[in-house]
Amino acid sequence: MKSLPLLSSCCVLALAFSLSALSVEAKGTKSDPLAPTGRWSGYTAGRAATPPMGWSSWNAFGTDVNEARVLDSANTIVESGLAAKGYRYINIDDGWWLKRRQTDGRMQVRSQIFPSAQVGGAQETSFKPFTDRIHSMGLKAGIYSDLGRNSCSQAYGGPGTPNLPEGSVAEREVGLYGHISQDIKLYFDDWGFDFIKVDGCGVRAFTPESEKVKSGQYRALGPLIDFQSVNRTDVAEVKKLYAEIADTLKRDNPDGDFVFSICAWGSADVRAWGKNVGNLSRTSDDLTPTWARMLTNFDSAATRALYAHPGSWNDPDMLFVGHGDFDEHHLTEAKSHFALWAMINAPLIIGYDLRKAPPQLMDIFGNTDIIAIDQDPAGNQAVLAYDTDDVQIFVKTLGTDPAHKAVAIFNRGDVARDVNLTAAHLKYAADGDIRLKDLWTKAPLPDFKGEVKLRVEPHQTLIFDAQGKHILAGGAYLSELPGRVNPAVDGVIVPQADPFIHRMVSPWGGTQGRGDLPMYAGWGGAQADTTPYGRTLQVAGHVFENGIGILAGSRLEVRITDERRFETSVGVDDSTLNPSQPVTFYIYGDGKLLKASKPMRFGQAPEHLAADIQGIKILELVARGGGADTVQPTAVTWGDAALIR
Ligand code: GLA
Repeated sequence: MKSLPLLSSCCVLALAFSLSALSVEAKGTKSDPLAPTGRWSGYTAGRAATPPMGWSSWNAFGTDVNEARVLDSANTIVESGLAAKGYRYINIDDGWWLKRRQTDGRMQVRSQIFPSAQVGGAQETSFKPFTDRIHSMGLKAGIYSDLGRNSCSQAYGGPGTPNLPEGSVAEREVGLYGHISQDIKLYFDDWGFDFIKVDGCGVRAFTPESEKVKSGQYRALGPLIDFQSVNRTDVAEVKKLYAEIADTLKRDNPDGDFVFSICAWGSADVRAWGKNVGNLSRTSDDLTPTWARMLTNFDSAATRALYAHPGSWNDPDMLFVGHGDFDEHHLTEAKSHFALWAMINAPLIIGYDLRKAPPQLMDIFGNTDIIAIDQDPAGNQAVLAYDTDDVQIFVKTLGTDPAHKAVAIFNRGDVARDVNLTAAHLKYAADGDIRLKDLWTKAPLPDFKGEVKLRVEPHQTLIFDAQGKHILAGGAYLSELPGRVNPAVDGVIVPQADPFIHRMVSPWGGTQGRGDLPMYAGWGGAQADTTPYGRTLQVAGHVFENGIGILAGSRLEVRITDERRFETSVGVDDSTLNPSQPVTFYIYGDGKLLKASKPMRFGQAPEHLAADIQGIKILELVARGGGADTVQPTAVTWGDAALIR
């Protein structure tokens, strides 16, 4: 962070100025970010066409990781059949490093715990024997680093933390900062890793005021991230550093066989830009094995459906199935955690010591139907179809047939509920037969029309495969296809904290202070079937059950396959904070203007727009105007936006 002093009135103007500079930077420096490009700009490099699956040492062992533990887990993954079901990445998290060699800056492995890494004299270490072993098992290997000079365990580990880096201050600088190219080359080209997770503690925790810096243990850096304040975070610099890693990964991996996992925990507005820079992007701070924390982490990703697509996924953190509230004595909770992660296309990274896994837990990890939901190639993250603090219904379009869905009914609360699942939730016609198959029991439910009443026990998630008659003959609403929509510019000028993420007592401290206040920027982003602020889509009193809600000053990219027509009804949303500014809506096909609306004002009836899109690859939906660079944004609605075959 450019350490901003406490705000005095003289600084307010300067802050406002630096904020707008920052957001311009965050949106790219092109003179007109709303100009059509005819291209898809979301991240597609690397190997994450579907969310990565595998195992990581962190939730199982913390920094008390060692080669035997990792290899045993890898063996179990293979022998149990989980590998054949898609669990492929075996990731070493924090704790592997010994020091950075000062003669040439090369990182050294702590070979005491990874004996196969001791390849030469005392200073010659290599992970190549380890990755060879992992590869020979048909698996992929992952490694861990930090954006700054130092790691999270160095920042937050207490005196008893095992396997902290050793040596002088410089030797203990094990993160990528200043070494991006050298380290990425070492990890991928020389050592043969296939996956890297890059944490951000090094640019967050080593402030000049921190005890560990003041006492001379570590050098100060930044901070670039202020977790509590996106305004005090250097968003552009954090993004630039992660992008530099992405560029290096691409350059050093001509075969593209890598996964880049951004771990900025929802800070630095990463929930908005992670989709452009990496394959995975953490949307919140760490998960812990408690129910309340699972809600927090789930919520941080669950309303970000439009910000994930094949190649780049929201990451609510690695699975904690097997621990605490999700252990073998809490199978309802463990199954909910797993099913919910699958519905929102989260990476399925097991964080459990599989050597001791009882069969009930292996059955959860190995549920092929639920894995298939997560791994569905269309990559549509589930959309929230019904929302309360007690019960939520999520619907995910599977494959290429919009009538094929997965639906999850999630009871967040402590009381059993009778839930009406309706045809409308599924975007099915009320007069068609609806068929549900329970993905835990594998039992089909009796067919029904219109709606069905289902009992959902406390903390339970019912999860079904669903078939029905789609409400739109021969087409699909864009809001059902979030994997094909990319909010290239979402109109958010000043990132705001999302107030709808479950707030819990801190797992890391007591109840000192004012509590867990909203901190994850991303509020006001593009939404499927609601406005950017979670309201019903409505233009001049006309309610849209379907559509995309976004702020003006935005550009959406949409991948077209075999559809022939695009239709929508546009207007300024009735919920807009800024009712004074007109907005014009434009539809482009492969960069060429197909249709434009008249300038639309708040209160004007929606205007219907239709365009022939046959043969087009990328559709772009631009909403210009709205005074989006003023303080109050204008909410606009692409009502009933649909692709018709
Ligand atoms: C951070 C990350 C975790 C884990 C630890 C390791 O807290 O968010 O996932 O990698 O660091 O120290």
